Amino acid sequence: MKRKLNKIAKDTNIYLKKYFKSQKKTDLILPMVYSLLPGGKKIRSKILIDVGKIFKIKYRDLIQIGAAVECIHAYSLIHDDLPCMDNDNLRRGKLSTHKKFGESTAILAGNSLLTIAFQILSQKNLWLNDKIKIKLINLISECSGHSGIAGGQYSDLNFERKKIPFNKIIQMQVKKTGKLFSFCCMAPVIISKKVNYLDKFDKIGSDIGLLFQIVDDLIDYSGKTRKAGKKTKKDLKHGKATLISLLGHKNTIIYANKLKLNIYKKLHIFGNKAEDLRNTIEYILGRSK
Ligand code: IPE
Ligand code: IPE
Ligand code: MG
Ligand code: MG
Ligand code: MG
Repeated sequence: MKRKLNKIAKDTNIYLKKYFKSQKKTDLILPMVYSLLPGGKKIRSKILIDVGKIFKIKYRDLIQIGAAVECIHAYSLIHDDLPCMDNDNLRRGKLSTHKKFGESTAILAGNSLLTIAFQILSQKNLWLNDKIKIKLINLISECSGHSGIAGGQYSDLNFERKKIPFNKIIQMQVKKTGKLFSFCCMAPVIISKKVNYLDKFDKIGSDIGLLFQIVDDLIDYSGKTRKAGKKTKKDLKHGKATLISLLGHKNTIIYANKLKLNIYKKLHIFGNKAEDLRNTIEYILGRSK
């Protein structure tokens, strides 16, 4: 699993480096690339490849789509670290973008990473037909904006230091993190045109994303800054509404394991073809960074 993840991370980074080299030289390229490379597990790209395996989608196309996803993800991290949001100085083991380049530059580099994702998906070099490209761009936009990342981040900040019920926490986490995972699970289905699987993979994606966020919260609770590459034990300080703050550490672990088994149930019909995806889910649950 680790070897496969490293290969995908490497191929995604190579693609992104080349893509940025082909761009017009501007002053924002440096902070954009700083936030994107190196570092980052590229777990979302791995999910794309794993689901792509079930639907027999070309690796090369998926790496390109994954590169777009990673740009949106990097944008969300730059903004997440800003003083008006989580106010974090460390990201991927180095200074967060606003600490390195200043706040206004970080905001603009974030905006540019968001829009470059649409540029990557709409380019001629992506060997998919235009109808499929439009569907992908439509979906990734939905997953990133007010009903996805941005909307979830809004709730995350709005919920600080408040008693928030279980369902609201889950909804917030599905939006801020789950939706982009949903995109990664649905993109291969869209490409294969097996539309009757779309809802199923939408749900599998949001469940995997939710699991991913719950483990991120667990890492914040008991992980080490050095290992995580970002400052831990901050959620409690900020009064973040998490499952840990609502249910406690132990019950959150129990919930995460139940969630995993639920996802496995949904994957049952795919048998061995879903083995890589199962391995990635196992990795997500056991990770410490
Ligand atoms: C961190 O995401 C932010 C969350 C959505 C929990 P990752 O843990 O995927 O961050 P990188 O890309 O590996 O640094
Ligand atoms: C961030 O969640 C989710 C995003 C959409 C960026 P966190 O705020 O928990 O992520 P970290 O812990 O700073 O990486
Ligand atoms: Mg946050
Ligand atoms: Mg944060
Ligand atoms: Mg966190």
